[in-house]
Amino acid sequence: MLPRIIIHNAISLDGRIDWLNFDFGLFYGFISRWNEDANMVGSNTLLKGFEELNQDQNETPEEMEPGSNDQRPLLIVPDSQGRIRSCKLVLIQPYWRGVVVLCSEKTPNEYLYYLNGSRIEYLMVGKEHVNYRSALQKLYDQYQIKTIRLDSCGTLNGILLREGLVDEVSILINPSLVGGTTPQSFFKASDLTSYEGVIKLKLLSVEKVTEDIVWLLYEVIK
Ligand SMILES: NC(=O)c1ccc[n+]([C@@H]2O[C@H](COP(=O)([O-])OP(=O)(O)OC[C@H]3O[C@@H](n4cnc5c(N)ncnc54)[C@H](OP(=O)(O)O)[C@@H]3O)[C@@H](O)[C@H]2O)c1
Repeated sequence: MLPRIIIHNAISLDGRIDWLNFDFGLFYGFISRWNEDANMVGSNTLLKGFEELNQDQNETPEEMEPGSNDQRPLLIVPDSQGRIRSCKLVLIQPYWRGVVVLCSEKTPNEYLYYLNGSRIEYLMVGKEHVNYRSALQKLYDQYQIKTIRLDSCGTLNGILLREGLVDEVSILINPSLVGGTTPQSFFKASDLTSYEGVIKLKLLSVEKVTEDIVWLLYEVIK
């Protein structure tokens, strides 16, 4: 068995994730619907989050021990290049009970020393990059992770969608058209060579959540 994966993103009407001025309260207000065991955050998204919170990755905050009955989701970060230098910074955020980093054979040794020294758990899955199917299998078997909300964008969404690992796509459509020729889309993947590769969706729900914002929930047809 593999965990159920839900993509939840806010996008413009033309599918872009940049130049949005979206309401974080509204965005995160949705997440209780999935009762997630874990939240997988792409390394670019996490680094951008640190930047926006103006948090210095070298800061060494007080470590908080999770309680034994801690119901908060686990944070999972694919970081085969070893870019997230302060997992402890992550742990002082109130949303997560702990973190598991996904590494590959290409992850620099010195990053693995850092994780070991900081008592941060990690899984070695994949050669060049993280092998997500193996990672998900291990997360299900070793951590009993049954539902994961993906907090990432085009790159990781694209990889997981093309590998057939995503179950639901939840989208908040902002009332804007961004345009442009640089595809900052919420689904980035290599170009298709045939119609077979198109990912088909089944509409599960539509809701007008504010005067201008529409929420759409789709099941990925596998
Ligand atoms: N609008 C929204 O709802 C929303 C939500 C979340 C994020 N965002 C925005 O989206 C942006 C970040 O998105 P992004 O697409 O650049 O990055 P991302 O999805 O956050 O991160 C990319 C992830 O993909 C992995 N990866 C890259 N190439 C791979 C490969 N060939 N095989 C396997 N794994 C691979 C990377 O792992 P390695 O580190 O191991 O390479 C990394 O963890 C930020 O600006 C963020 O603010 C918007």
